[in-house]
Amino acid sequence: MKYQGIIFDLDGVICSTDEYHYRAWKALAERLGIPFDRERNNLLRGVSRMQSLEIILEKGDKTYTDEEKAAFAEEKNTLYRQLLGQMSAADLSDDVKTTLTALRGAGLRLAVGSSSKNTPFILERIGLGSFFDAVADGNCITHSKPHPEVFLKAAEMIELPPAACLVVEDAHAGVEAAVAGGFDCAAMGDAKEDPRAAYHLTQVSELGFMS
Ligand code: BG6
Ligand code: MG
Repeated sequence: MKYQGIIFDLDGVICSTDEYHYRAWKALAERLGIPFDRERNNLLRGVSRMQSLEIILEKGDKTYTDEEKAAFAEEKNTLYRQLLGQMSAADLSDDVKTTLTALRGAGLRLAVGSSSKNTPFILERIGLGSFFDAVADGNCITHSKPHPEVFLKAAEMIELPPAACLVVEDAHAGVEAAVAGGFDCAAMGDAKEDPRAAYHLTQVSELGFMS
């Protein structure tokens, strides 16, 4: 493999929290009388909680104060965390588990680069609380994806330059962030066909076949 480190997005790459994000946002949108569906949910991939809320509110016809918006985000997060509470090590797929083990065995440095402030909680739930060499997340950045900050921070934490790292992403905003930071990107899921990505994966285990 031509890389020395791999930086993984969390939601949609390491684990499938997408459905929980969707259900929690959907509940809030319904309460506020705002249309929201799975297609619209895809626009929220990779972007921060508050930016996600702004995207949802765009479809409504009311304006809200910053205090109201903060309360809405908190309401969504409370429901989201209740749903996350159901997760366990069984939610870590064999595909991801065997790939992470193989990449670690091959001597690669492995990091997480996620916009989510719930990253430590999720990693703990799925049994990866102390697996990664570094975790850069929504708690340590000022700019969310598509800004490259979270990936640059992760690379710095594993002491590698961007050119020596591969980013794995399922969000268009994440592919954009990786490329902006000077990283090659392997895209999958919703962003699989993104032309800015160097690789297009159907599943994470395809990383193990890269030379
Ligand atoms: C990203 C998700 O990983 O985290 C986004 O793809 C989400 O959909 C963002 O908005 C922030 O998550 P959290 O957990 O901090 O609300
Ligand atoms: Mg993602």
